[in-house]
Amino acid sequence: MSIITTRNVVKHYDDGAIKALDGVDIDIEESEFVAIIGPSGSGKSTLLHMLGALDKPSSGDVIVDGINLAEERDLAGFRRRTVGFVFQLHNLIPTLNALENVQIPLVESKLSRSERRERATELLEQVGLGKRLRSIPTKLSGGERQRVAIARALVNRPRILIADEPTGAVDSENSKRIMQLLKDINRTTGMTLLVVTHDPEVATQADRIISVLDGRVVQGVAAA
Ligand SMILES: Nc1ncnc2c1ncn2[C@@H]1O[C@H](COP(=O)(O)OP(=O)(O)O)[C@@H](O)[C@H]1O
Ligand SMILES: [Mg+2]
Repeated sequence: MSIITTRNVVKHYDDGAIKALDGVDIDIEESEFVAIIGPSGSGKSTLLHMLGALDKPSSGDVIVDGINLAEERDLAGFRRRTVGFVFQLHNLIPTLNALENVQIPLVESKLSRSERRERATELLEQVGLGKRLRSIPTKLSGGERQRVAIARALVNRPRILIADEPTGAVDSENSKRIMQLLKDINRTTGMTLLVVTHDPEVATQADRIISVLDGRVVQGVAAA
């Protein structure tokens, strides 16, 4: 079953002067690991923003987990429940330690304080940072910071994890470790994984590659 479907998604910026997406139709199956590749400026980030309800298309439909996003009133709630995001830059809060950063998306959750801390601790252990729970971001390496960001993206147990060049700012060894981690999470939990990457080696690990060029999908459309 598709967890993400787009139909003729168009996204213009600046009153139509910039056509970032020019009619995108994709179907992504539940639990699939999909790599999205394409040159800089081709529309990859814009596409992820549409899929994760961070922004709205100019026209066309985005259906995620059975919800047509155009009809969803509580988009913030949808994002919190359904999608986790990892960006190239980790966007951690500098004054909060790892444990506190991971708990940020739980602000609206019904979990108790101790349940929150427990869940964040578990995730940090899972990403190999069980010994760095109290470290603030400046005391962590780039790879470690990115792993905190991954733990934070997972804390609400989203159905979909969206990562926009998650290995873009780390060295190749950390890049491998981060990709292995994302892949393990995909395989063990069945969480759908979408990763934008410049790295061909990362892309080859995916179940499927979607190529984007000039705002269009040029390859990787599911066979009819
Ligand atoms: N907020 C924005 N306002 C205006 N133009 C934008 C905005 N975001 C992206 N663009 C433009 O849309 C096109 C696609 O950008 P983007 O989706 O960021 O590409 P990619 O992630 O593949 O590098 C580019 O021409 C970019 O300059
Ligand atoms: Mg981008």
